[in-house]
Amino acid sequence: MRLKNKVAIVTGAGAGMGGAVAVAYAREGAKVVVVDVDEKLAQATVAKIQSVGGEASFIYTDVSEASRVKAMVASAVERYGGVDVLYNNAGVQFMKADSRAHELSEEIWDRTHAVNLKGAWLCAKYVIPAMMERGGGSIILVASPTGFRGCAPGATAYSSSKGGIIGLTRIMAVDYAKDHIRVNALFPATTETPMIAEALTGAEKRKRLAAAIPMGRIGQPEDVVGLAIFLAADEAAFCTGGFYMADGGMTAW
Ligand SMILES: NC(=O)c1ccc[n+]([C@@H]2O[C@H](COP(=O)([O-])OP(=O)(O)OC[C@H]3O[C@@H](n4cnc5c(N)ncnc54)[C@H](O)[C@@H]3O)[C@@H](O)[C@H]2O)c1
Repeated sequence: MRLKNKVAIVTGAGAGMGGAVAVAYAREGAKVVVVDVDEKLAQATVAKIQSVGGEASFIYTDVSEASRVKAMVASAVERYGGVDVLYNNAGVQFMKADSRAHELSEEIWDRTHAVNLKGAWLCAKYVIPAMMERGGGSIILVASPTGFRGCAPGATAYSSSKGGIIGLTRIMAVDYAKDHIRVNALFPATTETPMIAEALTGAEKRKRLAAAIPMGRIGQPEDVVGLAIFLAADEAAFCTGGFYMADGGMTAW
């Protein structure tokens, strides 16, 4: 087991990739704190983990709210004695309302950035002191090829929030290197999850999205699991400030 005795917080663990990573972390021996705003989905992830003999508990948290994040980290520490891994994954994309810059509403810009970027920072902010207490840890931020490239035309709020994740990863990697807190970003491709379910309805849309990925297929939540485990585990002890793609070549294109 590669994560034995570790405590991992996974945000947005009720669905999609966060759900797959939470289950995989538990299988590797971690105690998993399942964070989400959707209690029903999150409890289903907890039940899945417990059904294979793993340890997990749900803590309701909207990652954009500082007081909630602070309380979530405090209760994770109280319950499990500390935190070793933060998988900073919770995110939103308002498919229909996100748009080109001159058409975008302030509300969609603010909410997208509040969850995707501010939320990732807030979770790191409150987890870092707990990691310092432990002598180190691993923070993994979930970025997107669209943070690097203009590959999601019209998604101004989403793309810019993911660009912010890239900067946040690098600055935190440098700021906390001496504290043995590693900070890396993971890049999934277009992946079949509830977030983009609408964009994937119909054979034509699927074909077009798959064709934008050199490997010619849409990602599945399990495609990020190998990297998520590696970056959390001690075998990645000298890896920080890195960008890791599980994207079928999408970012390279
Ligand atoms: N699906 C893709 O094609 C794709 C591609 C690249 C990157 N990503 C990124 O990967 C991450 C996971 O995406 P997904 O597709 O699995 O998403 P998803 O929508 O399937 O799941 C996201 C989960 O986050 C939760 N969530 C939403 N807002 C929250 C908040 N404020 N606080 C706590 N939890 C919240 C949701 O309830 C849900 O359970 C996101 O950061 C997303 O931007 C997704």
